[in-house]
Amino acid sequence: MGAASARLPAAASPVIRALNLLYLALKTIHVSCVVMTISLFLVRGFWMLQDSPRLQQRWVKILPHVIDATLLTSAILLTFQIGQYPGVNGWLTAKVTALLLYIGLGTLAIKRGRSKRVKVAAWLGAILVFAYIVSVALTRQPVPDWI
Ligand code: HEM
Repeated sequence: MGAASARLPAAASPVIRALNLLYLALKTIHVSCVVMTISLFLVRGFWMLQDSPRLQQRWVKILPHVIDATLLTSAILLTFQIGQYPGVNGWLTAKVTALLLYIGLGTLAIKRGRSKRVKVAAWLGAILVFAYIVSVALTRQPVPDWI
């Protein structure tokens, strides 16, 4: 559980209660975007494998940007809420760095890869990087314990 815990003492002030509620709302938005972004990325990857024209649909080109912008906005607001920041706290630095890698690999996989081979490798790489980001988020550690 984060710094702003969901469990509050009965005597917690209204301000603390409001901040706690805000934290929970932001985290819910953040995690919902996490689920949506990877689901859409997996589907787009399957369409890429099949050379499907569905990849060219207008909503398929727009929706990921909307989801990712919301993901990032909620991420930034969450860092203020817990008072931990990329460049200061290792796990958040690792998250942002891995996010940039995920975006780069994702672009290669869906758009810029020159061959199917490159696209598939980038797609699989992006999925692995995504799993790493989730592990960092859950443990608040840049390097998992089992390494
Ligand atoms: C694809 C990218 C991302 C994924 C998959 C992801 C995943 C997650 C998940 C699963 C949680 C919930 C953790 C829990 O329940 O304890 C979380 C929380 C959080 N994330 Fe992200 N995140 C991403 C990007 C980012 C970025 C770029 C930042 C920072 C700029 C960030 C900052 C945070 C913060 C501050 C929390 C709250 C942590 C806590 O209170 O324990 N996230 N993230």
